[in-house]
Amino acid sequence: MKYTFIVAAAGSGKRMGLGYPKQFLEYQGKPIFIKTLEKIDQNPRVTDIIVVTNKEYTEKVEKLCEKYRIKKIKCVVQGGKERQDSIQNALEKTGNSEIIAVQDGVRPFIENRFIEDSYRILEKNCDVDGVVIGVPVKDTIKLVDKDGFITSTPDRSLLMAAQTPQVFRGEILKKAYSDASKSNYLGTDDSSLVERINGKVIVLEGSYNNIKITTQEDLKYL
Ligand code: C5P
Repeated sequence: MKYTFIVAAAGSGKRMGLGYPKQFLEYQGKPIFIKTLEKIDQNPRVTDIIVVTNKEYTEKVEKLCEKYRIKKIKCVVQGGKERQDSIQNALEKTGNSEIIAVQDGVRPFIENRFIEDSYRILEKNCDVDGVVIGVPVKDTIKLVDKDGFITSTPDRSLLMAAQTPQVFRGEILKKAYSDASKSNYLGTDDSSLVERINGKVIVLEGSYNNIKITTQEDLKYL
């Protein structure tokens, strides 16, 4: 079995305003995306890792992976305009991988249990196509119209905030991406693409610590 991990690190980091992509920000002496890669690399079942990055940073990423001895790197792929384009590029390099996981490079608090438990669920349940790490939302969520007026209040007990890793059967993830591209659908995560082709995806409770480093306020967690 091939268990591939795609790590998305091709964002521009505009919202962080550092002047360089936030995946290169140092945390405990190492770039954030390296901290993320180290955790994935340590899982014995992961067979290969594909990193997606911006064209101008390809060499830098290759060198950093070498420097920090990330053993399972298969290749570094050029990213696209949107995250979805970046993952699409990486999917083309996954070959016949049976299980493909997608991880945001800027989520360094990924835990091994997220990976192991996701793999276990997919192994034990042939009717499940994917597993998404998520947490129950703490705030009440409002749906609003374009003028800011509230149109409804969904039942909070049914709401989960989706994180990564998001782990899927390889074939269905590729089909989901190809269908989305044909119909110009742009989702905000990988699971939404699988859901729209009626894939069965389950949420596995993760951790509130598993944050995505996005804006300056998130830096206090590092
Ligand atoms: O922009 P956002 O915070 O949602 O990015 C989530 C992850 O996706 C980051 O690790 C970022 O580097 C990556 N990304 C990407 N290609 C893009 C945009 C974002 O790989 N075009």
